[in-house]
Amino acid sequence: MLQAPIYDPNKTYYENWEEGPFGGFRDGVTIPVGTSRFDFLGQKLSYPLGIPSGPLLNGKYIKAALDKGFDVPVYKTVRSRKYPCNEWPNVLGADLEGDLTLARAQKPVVVRNEYREPLSITNSFGVPAYEPEIWQRDLKDCIAYAKPGQLVMCSFEGTAWEGASHADYIADWANGMKALKDLGVKVVEANFSCPNEGIAGLLCFDVPKVKLISEAIKEKIGDTPLVAKLAYFGADELRELVKETGNLIDGYAAINTIPATVVKPDGTQALPGGERRKKSGICGAAIKWAGLDMVRRLKALREELGMKYAIVGVGGVTTPKDFKEYRDAGADIVMSATGAMWNPYLAKEIKDTYPDA
Ligand SMILES: Cc1cc2nc3c(=O)[nH]c(=O)nc-3n(C[C@H](O)[C@H](O)[C@H](O)COP(=O)(O)O)c2cc1C
Repeated sequence: MLQAPIYDPNKTYYENWEEGPFGGFRDGVTIPVGTSRFDFLGQKLSYPLGIPSGPLLNGKYIKAALDKGFDVPVYKTVRSRKYPCNEWPNVLGADLEGDLTLARAQKPVVVRNEYREPLSITNSFGVPAYEPEIWQRDLKDCIAYAKPGQLVMCSFEGTAWEGASHADYIADWANGMKALKDLGVKVVEANFSCPNEGIAGLLCFDVPKVKLISEAIKEKIGDTPLVAKLAYFGADELRELVKETGNLIDGYAAINTIPATVVKPDGTQALPGGERRKKSGICGAAIKWAGLDMVRRLKALREELGMKYAIVGVGGVTTPKDFKEYRDAGADIVMSATGAMWNPYLAKEIKDTYPDA
């Protein structure tokens, strides 16, 4: 059963940032942290479960997630300067019953401000960021709140600020990641899976650029593990990416959302903002097939190519069974965004159902 969401879709991103979290994330209940039994990129974890970059807008959300037993919360993607959020609405329920296959994603998806099971939504923020002085202080504070067995990650995205050269853009990525390391983040995540430079598509599909940026980042952060957040890839494209970057990048997190044209029930554009927001990412139950498929292929490639990277399984985890499917598919850790937003007790349910993960 869906509970009151921790992020309120009826409010703006800024209202959620200032006033949230909501729902069960503010009930004051703390789930005890178990002993550290799992290893993830050199960190000891109580349980291999987290919330990926997105629903946890700031330290208040991260602390609430830690209290509720999500042992690896990821601080929503930040940037090196303040950046505006897309116009409201930013979250809407999606009318999808089965899988959002790539063929189905070619057709419009009806979205509305209603949330039902099987739970799928669209989210469209444009990767906003507060000023670095604000998020950096906040991030440092919530890292200190984590108990042994818990790990606060942070996601970062480089920006080609107006007038920036190619070198400036690469440096923005590398310096941003170094700032995270200096703040005490033990595992950093590069968001390669949101539109970066205009409409040229997703950065993660540009393998030479991902390699260049990752090399620049690793040069700055040394042995701090770097996780790359990916979209859904075709077979050949994934093999190419892993061959080129699998010995450089310490972990892959898959997947982000699957894009589709989103419309209101009357067929008109659902999100304000013109052409740029005609398409929007779909997440939740309908994309589980794609996350599982990526995890299986990343595992097979890791074996075939003799590599060591970690695999973070993301996409459509709304029940304990979904978590187990990801673990069986080869995910070293599993994360839930949409599922956790409407069920703050999902971590407890998963841990109660599968104490040994
Ligand atoms: C409200 C919301 C905001 C998100 N923001 C980000 C983000 O800033 N950076 C990112 O890499 N992914 C972001 N995502 C994508 C999630 O990390 C995740 O990859 C995706 O939602 C699939 O997981 P799910 O099916 O459990 O929701 C966001 C997702 C949601 C629901």
